[in-house]
Amino acid sequence: MSEKIITAITNQLHTVIDPYTMTKITAAKSLKKVTVDDSKVSVYLSKGYPIAPVVQELSELVRDALTDLPIENRALEVIIDQEIISHSAQQGVKAVPGIKNIIAVASGKGGVGKSTVSANLSLALSAAGAKVAILDADIYGPSQPRMMGVSGKPEALDNKMLVPMIGHGLKIMSIGFLVEEDTPMIWRGPMVTQALEQMLRGTSWNHDGEEIDYLVIDLPPGTGDIQLTLSQKVPVSGAVIVTTPQDIALLDARKAYKMFEKVDVPIFGIIENMSTHVCTNCGHEEAIFGEHGAQKMADDYSLDVLGEIPLEMSIRELADSGTPTVVALPESETAKRYQSIALKIAGKLSVKKKDFSSAFPNIVVENT
Ligand SMILES: Nc1ncnc2c1ncn2[C@@H]1O[C@H](COP(=O)(O)OP(=O)(O)O)[C@@H](O)[C@H]1O
Ligand SMILES: [Mg+2]
Repeated sequence: MSEKIITAITNQLHTVIDPYTMTKITAAKSLKKVTVDDSKVSVYLSKGYPIAPVVQELSELVRDALTDLPIENRALEVIIDQEIISHSAQQGVKAVPGIKNIIAVASGKGGVGKSTVSANLSLALSAAGAKVAILDADIYGPSQPRMMGVSGKPEALDNKMLVPMIGHGLKIMSIGFLVEEDTPMIWRGPMVTQALEQMLRGTSWNHDGEEIDYLVIDLPPGTGDIQLTLSQKVPVSGAVIVTTPQDIALLDARKAYKMFEKVDVPIFGIIENMSTHVCTNCGHEEAIFGEHGAQKMADDYSLDVLGEIPLEMSIRELADSGTPTVVALPESETAKRYQSIALKIAGKLSVKKKDFSSAFPNIVVENT
């Protein structure tokens, strides 16, 4: 009898779509078990992304799907937990100790809000229950020290590795901590490559013994040396592209997309920033930079628009003063938008291939 119930429930669960992975809620081995005893039926799910803000929503989805099943007088119990694992990156690129997954935030053009998006998405992932770090890879114009409200110099360990700075509970590394704020930064080709690698691999991300679930890399704009280094030397699980709705920004976003495609870095989707303007006085919403631009690009390349963030005075004020919207106004409509985008990225990542690189021994070829 209970076997029958378990089969019926399992079959029914396979029809539920997880809104954050856009796959079956049972995909990627998420369904751990279904148990039945005289008094209750228990469904155990384990999700590969941080679930704190959505555990209720997921639980209701499961309950709704199971309402018509004959579980008789038994109670239904839905138990959902999270386990964030490491996913595959480009073949042959060494993993970074202490970091499970790397997400790059890119754009074709500068000033589209990449750094603001990076800061808010990172904070949203953290608020959702993940361990998060930020690497500010914009060596020409680092923004994260200011946006995350952190100043000072990182401490160096005996082995010369740097200890990341902490802002709003996140580990942060930025060239901005290492050079004076008003010093112009002039970088030549090979130095650019080294700067990114140095910051990534010269930082002891897990010096406190805590592993990072997601390292978010805030890239400089464009498709230059940093992006090339990223694709060749940094084990990225995927990238998101930030764009504004104007044609010109979108043209550049298309270039950024094509570059990542060429170097085999998967794109999780596009974020349209400064999507519409909401008037501070009357609340009227206006599409000053045009409408549906990101959606059109997404359609052309079969990508997803992960979400839209309005052009809003408080986004700028809060980010530029060191307490981004997600921490300053966690209940706001805007914070919820960042939250939803963050979970879609983490959700998409969670159904990607697992990283097996650490399961295989290193093969060393030596000349004797
Ligand atoms: N949605 C938004 N609404 C209002 N201001 C924004 C928004 N997104 C970013 N900004 C502001 O625009 C400026 C540029 O953003 P930034 O994140 O530094 O862009 P990028 O990193 O792409 O160069 C910053 O002053 C930031 O606070
Ligand atoms: Mg920036």
